[in-house]
Amino acid sequence: MARRAAELRAAGRDVIDLTLGEPDFAPPAHVGEAAVEAALRPLGYTPSNGIPALREAALAAIARDRGLLYGGDEIAVGCGAKQVIFNAFMATLTKGDEVIIPTPYWASYPDMVRLVGASPVFIHCPAGTGFRLSPDDLAAAITPRTRWIIINAPGNPSGVDYDGEHLHALAEVLRRHPHVMAMSDEIYAHIRYADEAYASLAMVAPDLRSRILIVDGVSKAYAMTGWRVGWGFGPADLIARISAIQGQNCTQTATLSQIAAVAALTGPQQVLAERKAIYRARRDSGVALLSRSDHLQTITPAGAFYLFPALKRGLDDVAVADRLLEAGVATVPGSAFGAPGHLRLSFATELGTLDEGCRRIVAALGASL
Ligand SMILES: Cc1ncc(COP(=O)(O)O)c(C=O)c1O
Repeated sequence: MARRAAELRAAGRDVIDLTLGEPDFAPPAHVGEAAVEAALRPLGYTPSNGIPALREAALAAIARDRGLLYGGDEIAVGCGAKQVIFNAFMATLTKGDEVIIPTPYWASYPDMVRLVGASPVFIHCPAGTGFRLSPDDLAAAITPRTRWIIINAPGNPSGVDYDGEHLHALAEVLRRHPHVMAMSDEIYAHIRYADEAYASLAMVAPDLRSRILIVDGVSKAYAMTGWRVGWGFGPADLIARISAIQGQNCTQTATLSQIAAVAALTGPQQVLAERKAIYRARRDSGVALLSRSDHLQTITPAGAFYLFPALKRGLDDVAVADRLLEAGVATVPGSAFGAPGHLRLSFATELGTLDEGCRRIVAALGASL
C-alpha cells in the first residue's frame, strides 16, 4: 500500500500515507553527532555480538528500565531486532517444528518461521479481549512440536499490552510445558501510554528466564530504524548459537550504527518521554476522529503507534483499503496481520496530516456505504 500510495503521489494525486511502520522523527541529535565523529576514524570489523560498549549499554538499559540483570554472555546483537528473531529461529527450528503466533501479528513472524522450514500456528486474539492471548487458548495450542510462543507487547499492529496478572497466567501455562520457549518482542516497550509500569514475561516469571528471549533495539524508541541495530537477551547457550549464525551471516551490524546506538542508550533520555507525549496526542486525536464513523470500532491502543479499527458489518478490509486509497488515504488491510476486517493506520505521522487522513476515512466510509 505504501508503494501504491507513492505511485499515486508521483502521478500528482493528493494521497496521505498512513502505512508507515517507523517513527517520523530524526534520531536524537547526539546520535548523529557521535556517528559523524566516528565516521572520520578507521572503523573495522567488530565481534559478531557487538562492540563491548554497546553490549554494556544495552545491559545497563534493561537493568535500568526493567530491573532485569543479564550477563555479558546473555546478549546477542543483530541488524535490527528482526535479525535477532530470525537468527533465533534459525538456531532452534527445523522442519515440523511449530511456533505459536497470536493474531493480529507483526507480518514478518510467520514468514520468518516458514523460511526456516517450521510452521506457524495462529491463535486468534479478538478485539473484544483487547487482542490479548488467552492462557486457555495458549494451553490448547501447544503440541509436542511447539518450540516457541511469541509475545509482542506493546504489539504491532494492535497496540496490545499485558498486565502482570495476565503474564502470570501465561507463565503458568509455560511451566506446564517445559519444551516451549517464549520470544518476548519488546521493541515498542518505550512507546506505552499506560500509567502502570511495564511488565514483561521475564519480569513476572524469573524462574522461566532460561526459556525466554527478549528482543529489543533502537529502531522504534530512538527513531533509528535505518541504522539496523537490535539485540536479544536470553540464556547463554542460545545467545552463543544466535551469535554464531550472525557471524557467518553478515559478521555484525555496521560498526558506525553500533556507535550511534551506544550514544542513543547512554545519552539524555528525555526524548523518549517527549516523543511519547507527541504520539499520545496523535493517538487521542485519531481515535476521536475515527469514532465519528458508524463503520469503525476503534480500541484505544495501549502502546506502539498504530490505530487498528475494526470494520463493522463484515466489511472486507482489502476492498475498503483499496477504496480509501482512491479517496486519498493509504492504510494497511488487517489481513496483512492475520486479522481480516481491520485496518492499520500509523500515527507516526504529523498531527495535521493524521487528522486529515482520519477525516478522509470517515468521509469516504460514510459516503460510499
Ligand atoms: C513487532 C516488531 N518487531 C520487530 C520489528 C523490527 O525491528 P527492527 O527494525 O529493529 O528490526 C518491528 C518493525 O516493524 C516490529 O513491528
